[in-house]
Amino acid sequence: MKVISSREDLRHYRSMLLAEGGTIGFVPTMGALHQGHLSLVEVAALACEHVIVSIFVNPTQFNDPNDLRNYPRNLEKDLALLTGQGKTAVVFAPEVEDIYPEPDLRRFDFGPLDKVMEGARRPGHFNGVAQVVSKLFSIVEPHKAFFGEKDFQQLAVIRQLVMQEQSKIEIVPCPIIRESDGLAMSSRNVLLSPDERLHAANISGILFQSRELSTTMEVDLLTAWVVDQLNNDPLLQVEYFQIVDSITLMPVERWTQAGEKQGCVAVKIGKVRLIDNIKFD
Ligand code: PAF
Repeated sequence: MKVISSREDLRHYRSMLLAEGGTIGFVPTMGALHQGHLSLVEVAALACEHVIVSIFVNPTQFNDPNDLRNYPRNLEKDLALLTGQGKTAVVFAPEVEDIYPEPDLRRFDFGPLDKVMEGARRPGHFNGVAQVVSKLFSIVEPHKAFFGEKDFQQLAVIRQLVMQEQSKIEIVPCPIIRESDGLAMSSRNVLLSPDERLHAANISGILFQSRELSTTMEVDLLTAWVVDQLNNDPLLQVEYFQIVDSITLMPVERWTQAGEKQGCVAVKIGKVRLIDNIKFD
């Protein structure tokens, strides 16, 4: 497995891979890798002959400087995990100056997609995600790019970005990978204290129960129920729980409305902010 930090070297290596034939699958990450990321690499390796993984903690998507400072970083461990898995051809691990030789002044307009839920609480977050993904896409030029459904809103924004940029890259959504107690895998989980980690499992537990209850409870009552249940845990504080249309991310009022529906949640636990979501059939 090769590790490359400059965009020129990456472009050169990419040409060599293409000369061997086949397609390139791309898994963009911010490092602090876990089984969730490895599952993306696994799916990419099944779909494409060559897999490129990027590891880059993108400063422009952090609206909170403390969050950027505390974001877990461990390149050596990440590389060991990817090497052990044996599916990655190249890791692209650039420095901030490689990606942003000058400030990126682009302001994207994704309509309501980046204004609700995470977008409403993390101003500029999705603009930063779009900046870096757009830059990484233009460097890596993959055939397919793989994103986890845990960041459900990010996936919707990236699909929109690809449409707006008239890019041919296929965006492949990959299912959430959970710990054995149901907690959605996240790089932020390592920031939880042992006690917080125990309580964090209640987030998915309550989401799973809500899916059962959705057959008998109206959307507004179920929404209130989820918020109450989560807030009843003394360590959890709900930022939002919303049942939205899976494509438009607009709030759903009735189960009889057309379209797939997703329940999306953000919860504070101590200093850590976790997100999760669940599909309602
Ligand atoms: O999901 C992430 O890890 C990041 O938002 C991404 C897509 C790698 C962009 O920095």
